[in-house]
Amino acid sequence: MDLIPVIQQRFSAHAFLPDPVSPEAMERILEAGRRAPSAKNRQPWRFVVIQQETLRRKVQDAAYNEPWVGQAPAVIAVCSTNIDYRMPNGQLAYPIDLSFAAAYMELQAFHEGLACCINTTFQEDEIRELLTVPYSMRVVVLLVIGHPAEKRTGDPNRLPKGRIVSYEHW
Ligand SMILES: Cc1cc2nc3c(=O)[nH]c(=O)nc-3n(C[C@H](O)[C@H](O)[C@H](O)COP(=O)(O)O)c2cc1C
Repeated sequence: MDLIPVIQQRFSAHAFLPDPVSPEAMERILEAGRRAPSAKNRQPWRFVVIQQETLRRKVQDAAYNEPWVGQAPAVIAVCSTNIDYRMPNGQLAYPIDLSFAAAYMELQAFHEGLACCINTTFQEDEIRELLTVPYSMRVVVLLVIGHPAEKRTGDPNRLPKGRIVSYEHW
């Protein structure tokens, strides 16, 4: 049940082995996304799983040909189904909702012994066309998933707590 070791293991992988993601692991990753919280529980998401090699190569092209995008055996395109809803604080809900879903899926992937890279470096119109995403919807994140061909190297270079945490006032 300890979550912190999974969080500490997590890193953005940029090299993957060709071994596939097992269907059971993929189901659990998708279940983690399905269970993610969302504003008013609207669940404004659709997870498009891309595993076919020819399609992955086209997705790689649309992702500025970043090699790991086509190298990894699976990519989940985290897409919105509603882009209008604003939360009571006035902010758009969908980028936040979809970030939670992507984060849950990413952590479950690491829990499975897999690795991920969150990818936002892509031509959204091209991805939309490849995956037949309706024009009014957004492709927010490509979650690239597979068995890592590299390990997390050293310090994750995070700001110290003293810089980012304060109590009772800013
Ligand atoms: C919103 C968001 C967008 C990101 N986009 C990309 C990206 O397009 N390409 C990439 O290689 N990494 C991307 N990353 C990964 C970050 O670069 C990475 O999380 C950060 O450098 C910290 O490194 P770590 O994940 O290895 O701890 C993105 C991360 C987030 C949260």
